[in-house]
Amino acid sequence: MGELVDKRILLGLTGGIAAYKAADLARGLIKEGADVQVVMTEAACKFVAPLTLQALTGKPVFTSMWDDRIGNGMPHIELSRDRDLIVVAPATADFIAKLVHGAADDLLATLCIARKSRLMIAPAMNRQMWENPATQRNIRQLRDDGIFMEGPGSGDQACGENGMGRMSEPAQIVESIISWFQPKLLAGARIIVTAGPTYEPIDAVRGITNLSSGRMGYAVARAALESGADVTLISGRTSLVPPSSATLIPVVTAREMHDQVMSHVADTDIFISVAAVADYRVKNRDEHKKKKTDAGLKLEFTENPDILESVAASENAPFCVGFAAESRDLETYAHEKRLRKNIPLLAANLVQDALNSHENELILIDDEGMHRLARSPKLDQARGLIRHITKLYKPSRKPVTAR
Ligand SMILES: Cc1cc2nc3c(=O)[nH]c(=O)nc-3n(C[C@H](O)[C@H](O)[C@H](O)COP(=O)(O)O)c2cc1C
Repeated sequence: MGELVDKRILLGLTGGIAAYKAADLARGLIKEGADVQVVMTEAACKFVAPLTLQALTGKPVFTSMWDDRIGNGMPHIELSRDRDLIVVAPATADFIAKLVHGAADDLLATLCIARKSRLMIAPAMNRQMWENPATQRNIRQLRDDGIFMEGPGSGDQACGENGMGRMSEPAQIVESIISWFQPKLLAGARIIVTAGPTYEPIDAVRGITNLSSGRMGYAVARAALESGADVTLISGRTSLVPPSSATLIPVVTAREMHDQVMSHVADTDIFISVAAVADYRVKNRDEHKKKKTDAGLKLEFTENPDILESVAASENAPFCVGFAAESRDLETYAHEKRLRKNIPLLAANLVQDALNSHENELILIDDEGMHRLARSPKLDQARGLIRHITKLYKPSRKPVTAR
């Protein structure tokens, strides 16, 4: 909550079906504390009434260059000044083409070309319109011009077709905007984050797992993305939606997680091990469903590879950050773990604080001692962790191989 307090955002709507979602987007931005001014194209007004956006933002909506409510008679200049960001959502194929050419034939297009602030667009259109070489050429050009693109995604479309071109959901756009405003402390760093629980099969239908929800790891991935890093999220099974700009590698068992991490570690600058990894797997695992017998059930266990230890011991090891979750004697166990794993930074948390909760209370342990983060939502904790990493991490460029 309140992630966009003091941010002045101009929200532009163009004439696509997804304009109805812009009402939700306006609400989402306001909920985060942003000051939102809406500008709509003539076509956008065919899809939603300006009154809807006016009611939601509490401000008159501007639709024309010739609006005399602005004192100096130049809404295209006045409205584009003092804005931290202009977001056009939805952005039609037509509007995208206008941006490419610097057209200035209506208020929104003119204030975009007259802008001082950064511009983000959320394209929304039918899949054929999106795939059309002209649109693709235009998108490439806008990227080259430094315009940030949020989406589009793929899925069912209003026209009844299915494919690329769906506008990103309002919540996703709000998340991107929040991210946009975070300081880029780790720009270009390549980070692996592991998250979630692992699952060790007993037989074809049963297994052993743990209560990790994955929320802390996903929050760390998001905070790392916000700081400008290139993030690979290697995740056990969770019900969470991964941050859209992370490269997601889903895994099930500890060994799969280990293998995925080790195959990417050579190209990694920072490794953050948040996953709750099983120490043991079942040795006498059955390929089929075990049957109930009079002899009962005896499981034998064998140790899993230690992922953090393997990474920390690898040649040209990345900067390693571990997590310790304990139910008691947190500080003692966490200190021991950091020394045993030979890593520069460890984030310790009590399982009763962290598991299945939206909040956490991390203790960051490094060579200097302990640094406590006050209890707060996991994303705030993750941002605190990333800030701490930037104080300790010294970039040393590793060679890039294909990821
Ligand atoms: C019912 C309907 C739905 C439309 N949906 C879209 C759309 O989702 N994306 C798009 O690029 N154009 C869409 N269009 C076409 C645009 O409305 C048209 O190109 C218009 O000129 C856009 O104007 P603007 O870019 O100034 O807002 C749609 C048109 C109609 C009639």
